[in-house]
Amino acid sequence: MKKTALITGATSGIGKATAEEFAKHGIHLVLCGRRQERLDALRKELSKQVNVYTLKFDVRDRSKTLEAIETLPTEFKQIDILINNAGNAHGLDPVQNGNLDDWDAMMDINVKGLLYVSKAIIPGMTERESGHIINIGSSAGKEVYPKGNVYCASKHAVLAITEGMRIDLNPFGIKVSAINPGLVETEFSQVRFKGSASANNVYKGYKALQAQDVAEVIYFAVSRPAHVNLADVLMFCTAQASSTIVNKTI
Ligand SMILES: NC(=O)c1ccc[n+]([C@@H]2O[C@H](COP(=O)([O-])OP(=O)(O)OC[C@H]3O[C@@H](n4cnc5c(N)ncnc54)[C@H](OP(=O)(O)O)[C@@H]3O)[C@@H](O)[C@H]2O)c1
Repeated sequence: MKKTALITGATSGIGKATAEEFAKHGIHLVLCGRRQERLDALRKELSKQVNVYTLKFDVRDRSKTLEAIETLPTEFKQIDILINNAGNAHGLDPVQNGNLDDWDAMMDINVKGLLYVSKAIIPGMTERESGHIINIGSSAGKEVYPKGNVYCASKHAVLAITEGMRIDLNPFGIKVSAINPGLVETEFSQVRFKGSASANNVYKGYKALQAQDVAEVIYFAVSRPAHVNLADVLMFCTAQASSTIVNKTI
């Protein structure tokens, strides 16, 4: 039987590329995000390949998140694969200059939002004693870099939550994985720098990972045999050696 995946942050970047990759392989989709017009466009495109349902909610809103997932029609209720991808960095400032709204956004979306969505999906998985949760962490969850303070904290939390889930869900045979990319060329920097010109420089001078590169690894993880779990994957573009070392030669 074909599987169904719920992907948060499906309107852009890694989430959108993952939706497209999954559709290619016949995985039915529940696509989530806040931008309805993008969800509609993606549903129209991918419905040619698989069954697609969309949910519009802000992962910061606890009751709306739980309610939205509760409203899934019967044929989409069984979520076999959860891709906890919605998230962003907001700002890049030394901690002494940090903006409280940016801090709230990162902790509320990247950490609490991931927990709310998981809370809604996990009971079905434990009941069926099967499922796969993939949390999109970051190299920022493994290494703190200058001015990365709170974003790095949020992604360190994602890795701790991933480990906690893997331990607690172990008796139920549920796979839990973290996929942790370095620099990926998406709308991420537009969000981080609030659309300012600095965003344009982030991917200049080297070839960053593309959303499709990450999506292929995510599909690889979900397509392993039942006894194999890719617990934790760190992926960089070739030009990147660490959070602070990027070989810019182009
Ligand atoms: N790009 C990178 O360099 C990089 C590196 C490592 C890890 N990551 C991680 O990869 C994930 C995806 O990022 P991306 O690079 O693909 O960035 P992106 O292109 O900006 O996409 C972010 C996605 O998250 C959704 N989102 C953001 N805030 C949300 C909220 N409050 N409620 C619901 N959805 C929300 C957005 O959808 P709406 O705006 O429609 O809601 C969008 O679909 C994030 O967790 C990010 O931290 C990115």
